[in-house]
Amino acid sequence: MSRLTVVFLVGAAAAAALLGAAVDAKIVDGLRAGFYNKTCPEAEGTIRDVVNSEIGMDRTIAAGIIRIFFHDCFITGCDASILLDETPSGDVPEKESSANGFTLHGLRTIDVAKSTIEAMCPNTVSCADILAFAARDAAVSAGLPWYDVTAGRRDGMRSNMDDLPGKMPAPGHQVPRLAELFAQHGMSQEDLVVLSGAHSIGGAHCFMFSNRLYGFSQGADIDPALEPAYAAQLRQVCPQPREEDDPEKAPKVSFDSRTAQELDNVYYSELLAGRGLLTSDDALIKDPETKKTVELFAANDALWQQKFAQAMQKLGALDVLVDTTQGQIRQQCRLVNTQTTQQTTQQTPQSTQESTQSQQPRRPGFGFGRFIPGFHGFF
Ligand code: HEM
Ligand SMILES: *[C@@H]1O[C@H](CO)[C@@H](O)[C@H](O)[C@H]1NC(C)=O
Repeated sequence: MSRLTVVFLVGAAAAAALLGAAVDAKIVDGLRAGFYNKTCPEAEGTIRDVVNSEIGMDRTIAAGIIRIFFHDCFITGCDASILLDETPSGDVPEKESSANGFTLHGLRTIDVAKSTIEAMCPNTVSCADILAFAARDAAVSAGLPWYDVTAGRRDGMRSNMDDLPGKMPAPGHQVPRLAELFAQHGMSQEDLVVLSGAHSIGGAHCFMFSNRLYGFSQGADIDPALEPAYAAQLRQVCPQPREEDDPEKAPKVSFDSRTAQELDNVYYSELLAGRGLLTSDDALIKDPETKKTVELFAANDALWQQKFAQAMQKLGALDVLVDTTQGQIRQQCRLVNTQTTQQTTQQTPQSTQESTQSQQPRRPGFGFGRFIPGFHGFF
């Protein structure tokens, strides 16, 4: 079979694989260390330089990148489906879900990394791998010890916001539901506690937790689980929500009010002190089993850091496409390659640059029409 035929079959094969796929996500073997050692030896270092330089300009991006990686991997696996602005099928992409939308932060860094890498090694390094490396680099920049990231992920060709309901955890969830969603992805209750520690950096918009501050229940205006001084502080930053509020202008509050920029175990001691920001954070100390794990990590930073690195690697293997008959290496992370660009690429590599450029103006406007403010808008 000629190379060209293979390329033309890719779309059909991926579609068939998706149709036949089990509902539950799974951890897939087949990623390798040093995957780009021969084909693009500078890839990892270049991505790290880009990430570090972007974070140098804006530290908050580190948290954003880690979250993008999590949201990508939880929905149709780590296939960069979250990065697509539009889809060949016309499906509304994951990006426009209320769990993503304008709350995604750091997308530009991935674009910069991709265009830098494409200039060095065209059609070689997938967006899914770039995101996995970048998430590690972001974690390391926030203080996590270095960990190796295996690679060989290919980029998916579908993305649909309708894939999120029933798969993505929401800020109002309690442990049974959170653990169930993690289990659906082959991840344990311990993984849930470990990875929630990502909320050691970054923050949440007021509307993600304002139900805890105003009109919480019939008996209590404020969630009694919140330490009173902390709740008072939050109320100062987050005024009572009003119908006409523009969610994009909502203030953002750090998860960890003590070491907001450091990926460390302070998140866990804050939880124990009644300073967990989201209901889903506080939930981890309401459940007696997860509370034990929280206490363990609050007392042992090194243990948590090691577990976090391991869990990120596990997350990074969810439903990955590793076979060359599946997916593709996208030329731009926001768009699936068109068949013409694929074909051109395979026949005359010199014309890649041209076809990439001709795609640029296709970047669509980014609508938030579907965004529903407040976590009640989440499934
Ligand atoms: C366990 C269930 C989880 C829920 C319900 C949840 C929910 C949320 C919500 C509502 C936000 C705030 C978004 C915003 O307002 O901009 C957020 C931020 C964040 N999440 Fe999670 N999350 C969960 C687990 C995770 C996991 C597993 C990771 C990564 C491994 C993660 C990483 C982050 C990071 C780093 C931020 C900060 C983003 C930023 O500041 O730009 N989260 N999460
Ligand atoms: C890939 O290259 C790096 C840097 O040269 C090296 O440390 C690593 O051992 C190599 N990995 C493999 C699997 O060849």
